[in-house]
Amino acid sequence: MLLLSIESSCDDSAIALTEIGSRKLILHKKISQEIEHARYGGVVPELASRLHAVDLPRLLAGAQPYFDEIAAVAVTNEPGLAVTLNEGVMMAKAFATFQKLPLIPVHHLKGHIYSLFIEKPTRLPMLVILISGGHTMVLRVLGFQEMEVLATSMDDSVGESYDKVAKMMGLGYPGGPIVEALAREGNPERFELPVPLRNSPLIAFSLSGLKNAVRLTVEKLGGPDEMSKQDRRDLAAAFQKALITHLIQKIRKILARESIPDVALVGGASANLAIRGAFDSLCREYGKRLHTAPLEFCADNAAMIGRYGLDALAEGLTCSPEAITVSANRKLQPGMKL
Ligand code: KG4
Ligand code: ZN
Repeated sequence: MLLLSIESSCDDSAIALTEIGSRKLILHKKISQEIEHARYGGVVPELASRLHAVDLPRLLAGAQPYFDEIAAVAVTNEPGLAVTLNEGVMMAKAFATFQKLPLIPVHHLKGHIYSLFIEKPTRLPMLVILISGGHTMVLRVLGFQEMEVLATSMDDSVGESYDKVAKMMGLGYPGGPIVEALAREGNPERFELPVPLRNSPLIAFSLSGLKNAVRLTVEKLGGPDEMSKQDRRDLAAAFQKALITHLIQKIRKILARESIPDVALVGGASANLAIRGAFDSLCREYGKRLHTAPLEFCADNAAMIGRYGLDALAEGLTCSPEAITVSANRKLQPGMKL
């Protein structure tokens, strides 16, 4: 039997089918809206919602040969953009009602954690570093129902800061891969940018000051149109270096005090090879093992929602189609359970 999973929390429409016994991914389809949002330099919620309304049913139609084998439906119902979450949840409700199936509500961030276990057994406990467009946090994940927030960003997330830096330099969206590629060719020492919270004992993240320092540098260089290719490369490299130094400086303190030997890096920005490399070295230093998801499952996808759904199904955490609700955003603070 199969589990159908649906993801629409932001700008990716995705569905997946996962075999319930074997965890095998039978089908995974995703339509990204990056091109449509690129000209606005970020996601426009109403546009995203309209695109989901068109793309999700198209993706579901592709799964039609499997409809009779589907035993449950997992869908992202929090957190994210309310208008886009609604599209996925409405389709899940309609399908589950028509086919008389139970629903499994899935927390998007838990989905990112379970991107580590796609087609694999669950392996916990882990210390999880989640860096995406919507969130930046460290979690102590002891088990399926035991996930505690240890540190969060006080302002922008890692992915969001890459997106904003790209926008300031007049580049496209999403900014992460563009800025990472530029940084590879740049001299990180040419511009001196501040490492956030460098002298603060706080174990938290903050990226808005660094972003403003990038903005001032762009202005000093005469604005995005006056910047040379080398200016962009050097500024991207300086930004990425300060950001990585900040992440490592704070997370080092957590690794030093936590005894869990397994550490994971998940979320869209975990596709960044410079960030991966820095965490690889840090984990080695502390005798920890670093785990990452395959590159194709770092960004939003439905396979991770389905993988979390499998464990939820095994725990009996299903609900009827009438009972599911959408919850856009709940501010997560250190000490809170996910
Ligand atoms: O996890 P994700 O797909 O969506 C959210 O749940 O937010 O993450 C998307 C974010 C975007 O901000 C994108 O710029 C960032 O991940 N990202 C990267 C890289 N690839 C994607 N950030 C830094 N370096 C990358 N290579
Ligand atoms: Zn995500």
